[in-house]
Amino acid sequence: MTPKISVIGIGYLGAVHAASMAELGHDVIGLDVDPERVAALQAGRAPFHEPGFDELLRRGLASGRLRFTTDYADLAGAEVHFLGLGTPQRADGMGADLSHLRTAVAALAAVLPARDGADTLVVGKSTVPVGTSRELAETLEQVAGVRLMWNPEFLREGFAVQDTLTPDRLVYGIPDPGVRDQRVEMLDAIYAPLLEAGVTRLVMGYEAAELVKVSANAFLATKISFINAVSEMCEATGADVTDVARALGMDDRIGSKFLRAGVGYGGGCLPKDLRAFLASAEEHGVGEALGFLREVDAVNERRRTRVVTLAEEMLGELAGRRITVLGAAFKPDSDDVRDSPALDVAARLLEAGADVRVTDPEALAGATRRLGPERVVAGTTAALHGAELVVLLTEWREYRDLDPAATSELVEAPRMIDGRNVLDPRDWAEAGWEIRSLGRAPTPRPAPRPTPLPSGQRVLAGTTPSRQDIALAAARQLARA
Ligand code: UDX
Repeated sequence: MTPKISVIGIGYLGAVHAASMAELGHDVIGLDVDPERVAALQAGRAPFHEPGFDELLRRGLASGRLRFTTDYADLAGAEVHFLGLGTPQRADGMGADLSHLRTAVAALAAVLPARDGADTLVVGKSTVPVGTSRELAETLEQVAGVRLMWNPEFLREGFAVQDTLTPDRLVYGIPDPGVRDQRVEMLDAIYAPLLEAGVTRLVMGYEAAELVKVSANAFLATKISFINAVSEMCEATGADVTDVARALGMDDRIGSKFLRAGVGYGGGCLPKDLRAFLASAEEHGVGEALGFLREVDAVNERRRTRVVTLAEEMLGELAGRRITVLGAAFKPDSDDVRDSPALDVAARLLEAGADVRVTDPEALAGATRRLGPERVVAGTTAALHGAELVVLLTEWREYRDLDPAATSELVEAPRMIDGRNVLDPRDWAEAGWEIRSLGRAPTPRPAPRPTPLPSGQRVLAGTTPSRQDIALAAARQLARA
C-alpha cells in the first residue's frame, strides 16, 4: 500500500509527528536507520517516555494507518515526506551537524520521482541554521515535481503530543512568500483538522521560518538565564529570587513562564540550538549582534558550578561524602538526559571525590550510561539512605511532594540543596533541615525550643526578647518620635 505521508527520522520529534498524523486520519510510514527503534515502534513500544504517546502509537498501529520501516524504497509514492532528523551540535565546534539531514535527503531523492507527474512535497521539520532550506531545495527540486517547504516544530518534551495536535501556531517557510504557492495548499490539506480547529498558520520565506525556530529557543534560553542572572544578584544581596520572579511575571508583557530560577536549562534543544544560532550569526557577519547569547550560555553554566560550591559550603571537603542527587532527566516527565543539568552536577560532584548516588523515576538508563551502574539507585527511599546531603535537581512531582519530617528519617544528616526552588524552605528548616536554594538567602533553622522550666520558676526579665516584645518596643519608639 502506498502511504500518503512518510516521516524520516523517528526520534522524539518524528515518532510523535508520525503517530499524530495517523491520528489525524492519514496513512503514515515512519523511517529510521536504527532497526531497533523501528522494531520497538512497530511492536507498539515507545523508545522514550512521553505522556500520551504510548496510546497514540497503539491507536495508530491498530488502525492500520501507521507503520515503520528501515527501507527508503517503502516511501516511494508518498505525497508528503516530513524530515524529522536530529541536528546535534558538531563535535568540532558550536554549529549544527547537518550530516543526518543531508544523508536522508540524498536517500530520499533516490526514491522520489515515482508519482506519475503529480507534485511531491518534502517538509523539513528539523531545527536548522538559516540558509539550509534553500540549499536542500537545490538538490531536491532537481527531481521533477518535487517541492520543499520548511515547517519548524516547536514541541516540548513532556507535552509533545499536545504540542503537535494543538500547536500555538503553524509556520510554513516557502522560497517566495510573495507568490501563490501550491505547496501551501498541499500542507494545508495535511493539517486540515488543525486549521479547522482554529490554529493560525503563518506563511513566510524559508529564512524567516528557519529563524523563527532558532530565535524562539534562544529567547527561551535567554529568559531562563535572565532570571538566573538575577538569581546571582539575589544571592549577593539577600533577596529571594522567587519573590522577584513572581512579581516580574505578573507584568503580562513579561509573563511568568520560563522565569523559574534554578540550575538552568538543558536538554537536546535549548543548549545546542543557542550555540548553533551564535555560530550561524558569526558566519553571516552579525556575531556581535547576537554575542549576548554567549553570556546566556555562561550564566547557565555558572548555575551548575554554583550547586557544587554550595555543596562545599555545606559539607566542607567533598571527598568521600555521601551525596544523593534527586533527578537525572533534564526536566520532569521525560527520560531524556541529553545535556541534563542534574547529571552534569552529579558528574562534577563525583569529580570532586564525593560518593554520589543518583535516582530518577524514569531516566535511570540514561544516568547509568553517563555515570556507571554503581552510582545509580532505583527508588527515592533507597537513594536517600545514608545521605549527608540531598541535592534536588529535576523537579519531579514525587520530589516536590517529599515530606521533610519523613525524609529526615531516611538520611544520615538533614541537609538539602533545592536546585529548582520547588520546596518550601521554611517547612524544611522547621523540620530540622539545613536547606539552601539557588537565588535565596539561607533559611535559618528555628532555634531549639527552650527546655521547660521546673514548675514554679519564672523566666527572668532580660533574657531573649519575644517577637511581641520587639514589636511593642518598636511601637513605643515610633510614638516617641
Ligand atoms: C524546548 C522548547 O521549549 C521547544 O519549543 C522546542 O521545540 C524544543 O526545545 P524542551 O527541550 O522539551 O523544549 O524543554 P523546555 O520545556 O523548553 O525546557 C528546557 C529546559 O529549561 C529544561 O531543562 C527546564 O528544566 C529548563 N527551564 C525551563 C528552567 O530552568 N526554567 C524555566 O522557567 C523553564
